[in-house]
Amino acid sequence: MAQIKREQWGSKIGFVLAAAGSAIGLGNIWKFPYIAGQYGGAAFILIYLICTAVIGLPVLMAETLIGRSTQKNPVGAFKKLTNGSKFWQSIGGMGVAAGFIILSYYAVVAGWALGYIYQAASGVFYQFSKPEVAGQYFNGLISDVVWNVGYFIFFMILTMGVVYAGVKNGIERGSKIMMPILFLLLIILVFRGVTLEGASAGIRYFLHPDWSHVTGEAILAAMGQSFFTLSLGMGAMLTYGSYMSKKDNLPSAAVSIVTLDTLIALLAGLAIFTGVFATGLSPNAGPGLIFHTLPVVFTKMPGGYFFSILFFLLLTIAALTSSISLLEVITAYFVDEKGWSRHRAVLFFGGLTTIFGLPSAFSYNLLAKVSFFGLNFFDFVDFVAANILLPVGGFFIAVFVAYFWGFKKALPELKSGAEKLFEKYYWTISVWKILVKYFAPVLIFLVFLNSIGALKLIADIF
Ligand code: TRP
Repeated sequence: MAQIKREQWGSKIGFVLAAAGSAIGLGNIWKFPYIAGQYGGAAFILIYLICTAVIGLPVLMAETLIGRSTQKNPVGAFKKLTNGSKFWQSIGGMGVAAGFIILSYYAVVAGWALGYIYQAASGVFYQFSKPEVAGQYFNGLISDVVWNVGYFIFFMILTMGVVYAGVKNGIERGSKIMMPILFLLLIILVFRGVTLEGASAGIRYFLHPDWSHVTGEAILAAMGQSFFTLSLGMGAMLTYGSYMSKKDNLPSAAVSIVTLDTLIALLAGLAIFTGVFATGLSPNAGPGLIFHTLPVVFTKMPGGYFFSILFFLLLTIAALTSSISLLEVITAYFVDEKGWSRHRAVLFFGGLTTIFGLPSAFSYNLLAKVSFFGLNFFDFVDFVAANILLPVGGFFIAVFVAYFWGFKKALPELKSGAEKLFEKYYWTISVWKILVKYFAPVLIFLVFLNSIGALKLIADIF
């Protein structure tokens, strides 16, 4: 078979925007605000920032580095660096499988966001007097098979379309268009939020440190969130890194990605809580905040009709730049390792993911009564992927770089394109080594134990 030259990003900013697009998603706009609210606002944010510096950034660098040095998908990368170790290849394979699973349910929620652009435009929110009514309406929609599955498939087609067009012409170009729109939309929404009468209560709620909520559980939640929100542990950053040139400065790109991701999460929190407080609603809706509370918030603010459309557009774009990175991991694997064409891989696995995602979409209607270990199918696959596969993958990525590949080989790779950093600020590299070698594996392992409930069990025994 003729070797086709592997694609590369057209520019350094292309990589940064695509990777930031992967990182910035439902996790930033939907999850971060409500867990920050739950766990003590600024106190939680501070801990989250520390976790991001101590685990997020170092693991992001390690993962991207594996990709860039090998210029391969997760399986091929481990194969190349270990001379074909079956164990390490299976870690890469687990990442590809995780990508498949996450995409299958992530796209269901993304479909709801997409559907809500239309709902917002239809003006239906104005019939909602309070969040309970909006919540009922929302439950009605997701229990409608045609609505739920229809938007899910619609969203999958969008995702497949971008990945089908290629790394440079699809993912990079798409990110270069969508990311600036995302920033702009968010800035408009923050501006709307903070200029509302009564917004200061929301700012206070979000940014006032309440240390009484900061428990061990909050710290673990912060660690888990900083890991999830950076798309770590399943080879998405590895795959995006594999299209990066060795002339580019990897540590500085990683810092930009982390900064953008964090900034967006904070701005999303500001936009949401200023609106919630200014309209006198409760900030404690948890996961329901976006679909139950926000529609009512919009009906009560000047210009709400317009801003509600922008908000769900923002949410959809954020989800789309994440979902393409998930599909790209699977695609890269079949293109590199199995010799498939990109188009065939995208159509086949995009289609297969859609089929596998159906039970997640059915979890709110046809399969609402079916449970797996006490969870519906959607929550079950989310649990397996986010709480088991991702931390396990992240753990092994850190362990691999520190103990198997080794810094002796990894450092020259990291240095490529970052020569100045190595000369002037070598201490930052020394810190990175310590974090990857000791901190990241131990802390990720703790998050893992916590999320499978083992820590609670241990705590109960003592
Ligand atoms: N980071 C994404 C978000 O914040 C979610 C996510 C987790 C993800 N792991 C991923 C996205 C892997 C792409 C690839 O919403």
